[in-house]
Amino acid sequence: MNKIALLSLVCLMTSIGVFANELEEMAYALSLTPDIEAGKKTYELCAACHEENGWGKEDGSFPVIAGQHQSVIVKQLADIRARNRENPTMYPFSGDDVLGGPQGIEDVAAYIAQLPANPSPGKGDGKHLEQGKALYQKHCVACHGEDGAGSAAAFFPKIQGQHYAYLLRQLQWIRDGRRKNANPVMLKSIKDMDDKTLQSIADYVSRLTVK
Ligand code: HEC
Ligand code: HEC
Repeated sequence: MNKIALLSLVCLMTSIGVFANELEEMAYALSLTPDIEAGKKTYELCAACHEENGWGKEDGSFPVIAGQHQSVIVKQLADIRARNRENPTMYPFSGDDVLGGPQGIEDVAAYIAQLPANPSPGKGDGKHLEQGKALYQKHCVACHGEDGAGSAAAFFPKIQGQHYAYLLRQLQWIRDGRRKNANPVMLKSIKDMDDKTLQSIADYVSRLTVK
C-alpha cells in the first residue's frame, strides 16, 4: 500500500472509531485536547476502586493513579481495552460505554494526572532498604529516575508514591510473564530476582519522595 492510501485508511479508521491496535488508539487519544471537567465526571465510576483522591488502597489491591503521567494512563487504558494487559477487575469499566472512546480516555487521564500524588503510600517492613537502594540504582534509575518520577515522554511510569504491595505484585507479574505489556529491557533486569530481592526494591521505591 502506498503512503497516501495508508494515511487515508488511518483517517477512515479514526473517524469511525476502529483502531488496528492499542498503539494506534493511544496515539490518537494523546493527540486530542482533553476536557478535564468531562474527565472528572467519568472518574466518579473509577473512584469506587481507586478512591476519590486516586490514592487507591494501602493493601495494594487498587493502585495509586493520582499524579501519574497522562501518557502512561492513556497507554495503560488502551492496553487494558485491547487485553494487552490482563486486568479482569477493570474490564467492565474499560469499554466505550464507560470511557466513550479516545476522547473520553484522554479526558479521564488528564483529570487523574492533575490529582495530587499520595504522600504516604503503604510501605514494606523496612529491613532491607540498603539492598533495595543499591539494586534500584543499578537496574532501574536509567528509566524510572533517581526519585522514581519516570518520564512522560518515554511512557516510563512514575513509581514513587505507589503502594508497596502493588509495586511488589507488578514486579512479580512482570518477572513471571503475567503482564503482557511489560518492557523487555526491564524484564531482563529482574527475571532472575527472587521474591525477597523484589521485596527489598519495592520497599525502597515505596519510600521515594513524592512531588
Ligand atoms: C472494580 C475496580 C476498578 C474500577 C471501577 C476501576 N479500576 Fe482501574 N484498576 C483496578 C485494578 C485492580 C488495577 C490494577 C490491576 C493490576 O494489578 O494489574 C487497576 C489499574 C488501573 C490503571 C493502571 C495503573 C498503573 O499504575 O499501571 C489505570 C490507569 C486505571 N486502573 C484507571 C482506571 C480508570 C480511569 C477507571 C474508571 C474509568 C478505573 N481504573 C476503574 C481496578 C479498578
Ligand atoms: C528500559 C527501561 C526500564 C527499566 C530499566 C526498568 N523499567 Fe520498570 N517499567 C518500564 C516501562 C516502560 C514500564 C511500563 C510498561 C507498560 O505497561 O507500558 C515499567 C513498569 C514498571 C512498573 C509497573 C508500574 C505500574 O504503575 O504498574 C514497576 C513497579 C516498575 N516498572 C519498576 C521497575 C524497577 C523496580 C526496575 C528495576 C529493577 C525497573 N522498573 C526497570 C521501563 C523500565
